[in-house]
Amino acid sequence: MYNIIRKKRDGFELSREEITKFVKEYTDGKICDYQASALLMAICIKGMTARETSDLTTAMANSGDTVDLSGLGSLSADKHSTGGVGDKTSLIVLPIAAALGCKVAKMSGRGLGHTGGTVDKLESIPGYETAISPEKLIEQTKKVGIALASQSGNLTPADKKIYALRDVTGTVESIPLIASSIMSKKIASGAQNIVLDVKVGSGAFMKSIDDARDLANAMVEIGKASGRNVRAILTNMDIPLGNAVGNSLEVIEAIEILKGNGDKNLLDICCVLAANMASMAVGFDEEKALSLAYESVENGSALLKFREWIEAQGGDGRIVDNYSLLGKASVEKEIKSEISGYITKMDAEKIGNICVDLGGGRKTKEDKIDHTAGIILVKKTGDKVEKGEVIARVYTNKEDVVIKAAEDFLNAIEIADKKPEMQKLIYEVVK
Ligand code: URA
Repeated sequence: MYNIIRKKRDGFELSREEITKFVKEYTDGKICDYQASALLMAICIKGMTARETSDLTTAMANSGDTVDLSGLGSLSADKHSTGGVGDKTSLIVLPIAAALGCKVAKMSGRGLGHTGGTVDKLESIPGYETAISPEKLIEQTKKVGIALASQSGNLTPADKKIYALRDVTGTVESIPLIASSIMSKKIASGAQNIVLDVKVGSGAFMKSIDDARDLANAMVEIGKASGRNVRAILTNMDIPLGNAVGNSLEVIEAIEILKGNGDKNLLDICCVLAANMASMAVGFDEEKALSLAYESVENGSALLKFREWIEAQGGDGRIVDNYSLLGKASVEKEIKSEISGYITKMDAEKIGNICVDLGGGRKTKEDKIDHTAGIILVKKTGDKVEKGEVIARVYTNKEDVVIKAAEDFLNAIEIADKKPEMQKLIYEVVK
């Protein structure tokens, strides 16, 4: 390890053997944290070549169990978001992609920091079982077109250990480390066709388009080297996605979108993601895939798929028509604007953190989530507000956090006289 650390520190390329040895021995507990930290910091500062990043990914993907989706043939498709605030796209994209013929057997994570996780959102549905066996995952996907489980205990154990170390050593923000972390999990999860939603902006890990593009290119290259079809879509995360932030609130918003209601921007992103999955997996041309995606929402087939999926996994499908089955927080507070003007900025990261304070996320791994806690954004960037008008509503079961949440929310937004220029929602597709 001593020589490997010095080699990377001095800017040289590590061999496949050196990278594989590091990953294997660190996972097995044979390398201590301080040496692993030193190497991660050297990688953070000196970077990695495409070959090194690909070797790191392969070693991490092979560090534990892998899921064999060959039974789903070329139709297997997966989607991954690099993490955002109010990002409920999986709940909408999967039913649309399945309605178009994709087979989506997906492993998802829980919330991380200020960003939410799909497994937490789904667990707000009474009865939904996230811990299912690989056999059930595949059988259900064959039958319904969708199954979504929490990551199995032994999927990419190397990533679990390395990620936990990066989290406390200032080595999260490194393109080769993020790319290998994400792609190792996607490759181990088995899908042939993978769409990556790379978030850019204040609520995302990547704050600039250039960094996001570099990350997207790195992940697409890793995919190619492993024989997978990968596309990355760069999307805006300067403002939270849609109007709901918080687990059960986001489930309701997702169902509303599938019913053809709600935020048009959110529907547009979801249709683009699903269309890219279907064009790779089913073979539609891109334009046709996009029009079929919108059609599946208009004709109700995507909503039907959503209900079928939830019920197949033990969830109460009646939530589609009766949101009260998801429960409701005991405290609800309206946040009113103190001035008139246009909302020019909403800090997505701060809003994500307020949701955590309300109980909707975890501060430590052991924290229990309050699924009903969260925020509804009544107004968003670009909207005009009058003094005293409601701009958001917060929901929690913790009476004592409400006043601070309201104050923090007002500090997370900016209001000015001039209407801001509307930002792009989808920046580019990297293939
Ligand atoms: N998500 C991951 O899974 N890994 C990272 O390193 C960053 C975001």
